[in-house]
Amino acid sequence: MQKIEWHEAIDSTMRRAAELASEGAASGTIVGADEQTAGQGRLGRSWESRRGGLYFTMVLRPKVEMRELPVVTLALGLAVADAVQMFTGLAVDLRWPNDVMVGDRKLAGILAQWHDGAVLAGIGLNVGQADFAPELHAAATSLALETGSVQNRDVLLRAIAASVETHVKVLESSGVEAILRLFGAASSYVAGKRVRVELPGGEVRGTTAGLTAEGFLILRREDGTEMTVTAGGVRPCGA
Ligand code: BTN
Repeated sequence: MQKIEWHEAIDSTMRRAAELASEGAASGTIVGADEQTAGQGRLGRSWESRRGGLYFTMVLRPKVEMRELPVVTLALGLAVADAVQMFTGLAVDLRWPNDVMVGDRKLAGILAQWHDGAVLAGIGLNVGQADFAPELHAAATSLALETGSVQNRDVLLRAIAASVETHVKVLESSGVEAILRLFGAASSYVAGKRVRVELPGGEVRGTTAGLTAEGFLILRREDGTEMTVTAGGVRPCGA
C-alpha cells in the first residue's frame, strides 16, 4: 500500500520528502500539500504554490546509477505528460529537460534530486488556477484554463504516481536509450527547434540537434558549431 502524507500547507514537499527518505521511506512514498509557502523550482528558483495546484514529491529508489539522474528527470517528464494526456485528452509538449507545456505555456514543472540514496521527484502541476502572479501570466497555464473544467486532484495524483512507477520500470528494464527515444518522440524541443538558452555566462542561440547518451541537449549554434546544454532555461526564439 502506497504511503501518502498530505499537508494543508507546508514550506516545501521536497524538504519533508528529504526527511522521510533519510528515515528510510519506501519507494513510492508521497508527500503532498494543498499549498507550499517556500516551493522550490529548478536552478534555485522559487515555485509559486498557491491553492488550486497539485504539489507533491515522490520518494523513488530506482535501480540506476547516480550519473543517470538526468535521464530519470526525462522519464519523470514523460510520466507526467502521459498521465495528463490520458486523463484530460489535452495535447502537451515537453520542453527539455522536463517542463510539461501546452503550446508556449508551462503546465507542470518537475524537480529531481538525489538525497541519501533516493531520488526525490517533485512535481508541481497547475490544475485549478484561474490566474497567476503577474510575472507568470504569459508563461503559465493550468488544466482549468486549458480544458474549461476543474479536474479531480486526487485522481490526477494517483494517475501521475502510477505513470511515474511505469516510466521508472521502463528505464530499469529497457535502459536509458528507451527513455531517450520516447522523449525524442514526445518533445518538439529535441531536434530542429530554434531556441535561446540562458547560461550562467550569457544567452546562446541556435537550433536543437538531439540528445546526448546522457540525456543532455545538443545545440547547433548559428556558426555551425555544436555545444551540449547540461542545464539552463531553454526558450523558443522570439519568446
Ligand atoms: C521547475 O522549476 O520547473 C520545477 C518545479 C517543481 C515544483 C514542485 S511542487 C512540489 C515539489 N515541492 C517543491 O518545493 N518543488 C516541487
